[in-house]
Amino acid sequence: MNPRDFEQVLLTEKQIQHRLDQLAAEIQEAYAGKDLTLVGVLTGSVMFVADLLRRLTLPLRLDNIGVSSYHGGTKPSGEFTVTKALRLDVRDRDVLVVDDILDTGATLVRIRDMITALGPRSLRFCVFLEKQIPHSDDLRPDFVAFKIPNHFVVGYGLDYRERYRNLPYVATLSPEIIRQGGSDIPVASGAGRGKNAPPT
Ligand code: IMP
Ligand code: MG
Repeated sequence: MNPRDFEQVLLTEKQIQHRLDQLAAEIQEAYAGKDLTLVGVLTGSVMFVADLLRRLTLPLRLDNIGVSSYHGGTKPSGEFTVTKALRLDVRDRDVLVVDDILDTGATLVRIRDMITALGPRSLRFCVFLEKQIPHSDDLRPDFVAFKIPNHFVVGYGLDYRERYRNLPYVATLSPEIIRQGGSDIPVASGAGRGKNAPPT
């Protein structure tokens, strides 16, 4: 990864780790005395889930759900597929869905509807980032690590064309990289721009 791929570091590793101490404490308090089922949304939430998990000492079970939505350019097409179903039974359970970023909210609304149909005792949402834009269906996350302006960001699990997920911090991409449609790493043929294309 070339540091010149990034325009601005929005959140440093230190800021993220410090905030996660507070956020984990909020979650601990909210679920005190309960048996939590934490559901990570693949793939973007992997770092966030891992960093939260090691801070939580309450009894919990971990599952993941995989979803993908296909977007033509930057507009949602409404197509939505489950790529990894839940493995654990969530009926009568206290479920906390953990995702990387709340953008339009379309993804979490679909996940909310799917999990609600399974009859959990409670269902709440925790996101690492919340963009300052109106979200569909008024989906309000219960726990938010950071609110950010409406910029396309990468790092700490978030990707641009499947790259940069491994950055320990969050950054905006340089206009040059966006113009090129990616860094100089060759992109496998058939890999489209996908839904993660920043506005061009
Ligand atoms: P939503 O359904 O519009 O809320 O989009 C949620 C998904 O879009 C996230 O889980 C990310 O995978 C992706 N996404 C939205 N904004 C960004 C961004 O700024 N950087 C990287 N991925 C993003
Ligand atoms: Mg995602």
